[in-house]
Parts: sequence; structure tokens; C-alpha cells
Amino acid sequence: MAKLIGGIGTSHIPAIGGAIHKGLQQEPYWKPFFDGYPPVQEWLARTRPDVVVMFYNDHGLNFFLDKMPTFAVGAAAQYNNADEGWGIPTLPPFKGELDLSWHIINTLVEKEFDVVTCQEMLVDHACTLPLKLLWPQGDCPVTVVPVCINTVQFPLPSAKRVYAMGKAVGEAIKSWDSSKKVAVVASGGLSHQLDGERAGFINKAFDLQFMDSLLTNPEWATQFSVLELVEKTGTQGIELLMWLAMRAALTVGDGSSVRKVHSNYHIPISNTATGLLALETV
Ligand code: DHB
Ligand code: FE
Repeated sequence: MAKLIGGIGTSHIPAIGGAIHKGLQQEPYWKPFFDGYPPVQEWLARTRPDVVVMFYNDHGLNFFLDKMPTFAVGAAAQYNNADEGWGIPTLPPFKGELDLSWHIINTLVEKEFDVVTCQEMLVDHACTLPLKLLWPQGDCPVTVVPVCINTVQFPLPSAKRVYAMGKAVGEAIKSWDSSKKVAVVASGGLSHQLDGERAGFINKAFDLQFMDSLLTNPEWATQFSVLELVEKTGTQGIELLMWLAMRAALTVGDGSSVRKVHSNYHIPISNTATGLLALETV
């Protein structure tokens, strides 16, 4: 059976792609952000996952406001970057992991998560940037299964539902008939709000408590409704739901089966409080 080696949560912000493209990693504005990644890159170089299951939110590329699936799973042989244009100008397509895509889809539907299956799927900054941050050199060495969670248009899935879905994805990975190693990645958050009266809203205390809860009490955030989470983290901070799915995927029985590899937290990059957390299954 496949091995689930661990999970990583990371923020995504289009401007990160521009900074990578222009080589600004050591500039004072960017350094505290990019300095978080080498320990995680080293862990990945050691553990060498073959596949990444990427929990992220599509930002209007595949699903616009007229059609919005709650959960959508990619089942394509390759995923082309079609980002909005603020990021890395050219990126080769990412390779899919079709067999795992269908195994996840079959498992989720069997467990009564009625997902949308996408045999064609474009990917945006939320999928491409975490991969570039984790593997900055050369082409991306892992294949990908994108799992989109709607955090864009109400109604959004509850934290509890996202946790259950993440757990089911973890069960699917662990029951995949393959000798490959899999990592789960959560792309999004932490607190940020891009528009409206509270534009620029950041909640450091909540972010840090949330990151800590993923180690000590992974279901902690499921006590909150989506509206409470938006209030606490901002209209886009609700992207932290991805982190909950990632953590749930790592839950084996008692949910205490992870060790922290590394974490980082830095405010702000653009409008966002950026977080990074890598967890290894033990
Ligand atoms: C920003 C953050 C996001 O999550 C996003 O998808 C786009 C922009 C920002 O802070 O600029
Ligand atoms: Fe976003």
C-alpha cells in the first residue's frame, strides 16, 4: 500500500510568484517569508515523496460564480498553469497521478462525499506556488492530485465537513495499491481579507492558536461555524479550511500520530498573514 509520509500547510499569494521570478528572496521584505522554506525543502529531499495531494481553492479559473462545486477532484494526466498573470510567467504543466485521482474519487463517493470529477483542470497560483516553494529547483519532481475546496462563494462547507473529507482522502491514500510515497499539501490562509470594510484584516493570535491546534488538538477548529471562522480570519482567511483537510488526512485513529518538522509565521506578505507548517507521520 502507498505510504502517507506527512503534510504541509503553506500560504499562497500571487506576489510570491513574482518574487521568485525576479529573484527577490533575500530582499528584506521577502526574506522572513522565504527563510521558512529550506528546512521543509530539506525534509522533502530526504523523504522524497512521489505524489502530492493538493488541497486548495480554485480562484475563478475552473469554477466561476455561476458553477461552484463544494469539493472537486482533478483526474487529469496533466494540469496546465493558467494563473492570473502576476506570478511566474511560464511554468511547464504538472503531471497528474491518474490512478490515485480515481482511487480518491471512488473512495470519497463511496463514503458519501458527492464530488465533482474534473478530467480537465487548469491550476492557478494556489496550486503552482506551493509546489515551487517546496521544490524551487528545476521541474516539479512529484505528480499531483488536486482537490479543490470551495472557500470562494457561499455556501461554504463547514470545518467539520472539510475535516471529514480530509480524513476520507487520507484513508484513500493509505488504501491505494501502490508502492509510492504521498504527501498532502494545504494551500491557503492564514488570516487575510482582500476587500470590503475589513480589507487588510489579520488575526495573529487566532492564526498561532490554529497552527498549534493542528499539533495538539487537530479537531479544535471544527468547533467553529464558517461564519465564525470568517469573522476570526477574514473572508479569504477561511482558506485555512485546507489546512484542516490536510491535518485530517494525517489522522490515524487517535490523531496524535504526527511530529512537527518545521513551522514559520510572518506578517504580512501583501495582505496576508503567511503560515508554513510541515508535519511528518510517525
Ligand atoms: C492574496 C492572497 C490570496 O490568498 C490570494 O488568493 C490572492 C491574493 C494577497 O494577499 O495579495
Ligand atoms: Fe487565495
